[in-house]
Amino acid sequence: MAWYDDDDLWAGFAGVMFSQRRAAEAAELVAKSPLLAFPAGSRVLDLCCGPAIHLVPLAQRGDRVTGVDLSEVMLARAREACDEAGVEVRLVRADMREFTEERGFDVVLNLYTSFGYFDDPADNLRVLRNARASLDRGGSLLVDVLGKEVLASWVGRPQAIDTEDGTVFMRDTILDDWTRLRTDWTLVAGDTARHATITSFLYSAAELRALFEQAGFTGVECFGDFDGRPYDNHARRLIVRGRAN
Ligand SMILES: C[S@@+](CC[C@H](N)C(=O)[O-])C[C@H]1O[C@@H](n2cnc3c(N)ncnc32)[C@H](O)[C@@H]1O
Repeated sequence: MAWYDDDDLWAGFAGVMFSQRRAAEAAELVAKSPLLAFPAGSRVLDLCCGPAIHLVPLAQRGDRVTGVDLSEVMLARAREACDEAGVEVRLVRADMREFTEERGFDVVLNLYTSFGYFDDPADNLRVLRNARASLDRGGSLLVDVLGKEVLASWVGRPQAIDTEDGTVFMRDTILDDWTRLRTDWTLVAGDTARHATITSFLYSAAELRALFEQAGFTGVECFGDFDGRPYDNHARRLIVRGRAN
């Protein structure tokens, strides 16, 4: 089984990835980010939606939202969160390599490093091509990852993070001449330890922009965070946006 197909990984490390604090931050981003401001009633697809951290606030402000994810566990959590918030959201279980709905959306989002998961680069390109096919004329795709240049400023320092579920120890290793990243996580809770290894492609701004262009996007722009700052030495994320024609 590939690491991204492992429900135990997403559920086991939910405390670090999908904390209450992150949900609150995501709601603030949706309210304030110029990159997440869409015309009222926009049809928004959150590709790899996880437990609906962004879907809920998007639906609350009136966007017509669909969430796609491969994990049953994540979709069950997303359903629970949407029901609790009293919002109407369509949830679909699908693999991002397969999911398309021709011209069905005005915006496609892929957030919090949910891109570059596949060992075959053609599969990652296919995800972008699918997104383009799912966008109506003039619609846009926004992908948010940890850019290679951002990671380079701190990679190698092991981190320990206290979460609701225990302490997570994280160690990053650069692979294949800076094309891929392996992250090893260990969650220690009481006298138990759970391990996970994630490997994914690592993109510089120029590389991800080129991939967008190869997938047929135009007007491709790079940003350094959700406030719309440039992708420069102050960048905290790599956010790439392209238009479908
Ligand atoms: C890092 S999480 C991000 C979730 C969400 N975007 C967020 O901001 O919280 C990545 C998500 O991608 C989903 N995923 C992994 N592989 C996938 C695939 N091949 N197709 C669709 N979803 C996938 C996982 O189940 C997980 O929910």
